[in-house]
Amino acid sequence: MTTSTPPIDTGKLDEIIRQFEGKKTNLIAILQKVQEIYKYLPEDAMTYIGSRIDGISPATVFGVATFYAQFSLEPKGKYEIKVCDGTACHVRGSMPVLDAVKRKINLKNGKMTTENGMFSLETVSCLGACSLAPAMVINGKIYPKMTAAAAEIVIDTILKENV
Ligand code: FES
Repeated sequence: MTTSTPPIDTGKLDEIIRQFEGKKTNLIAILQKVQEIYKYLPEDAMTYIGSRIDGISPATVFGVATFYAQFSLEPKGKYEIKVCDGTACHVRGSMPVLDAVKRKINLKNGKMTTENGMFSLETVSCLGACSLAPAMVINGKIYPKMTAAAAEIVIDTILKENV
């Protein structure tokens, strides 16, 4: 599997823009909708939106998309890994967990998604499960009290399920 960027559906984008009356004040809501569809914000979609809404440019859209942490500019992997680095998780060792996951999934060059599209990795500030610190979530499933070794086992299990 390779990471591919599917062509954008401009009809769908027009529909979303219409739904929010094409107003620049609704830009964040428009981008949220687009991200719901693609699971990230494709560059072509941002350019298109920037050219279709009065009073903004593609540069404005890129600016907003990069400013807010809720938006992702890269396609997410089949497995979305979130390692919590909130205070409770940090003091109980989330960094070694993060490093172990990065090593195990072979994530390089500051990317958040592996080249084969299998995994994406991000840190989050609190998962709301501090009693389970350090916590990790993969596709919505929480993995409590992680250690580097435990995280490696979790990733190994996923890799085995995907051979
Ligand atoms: S700080 Fe990690 S779950 Fe709250």
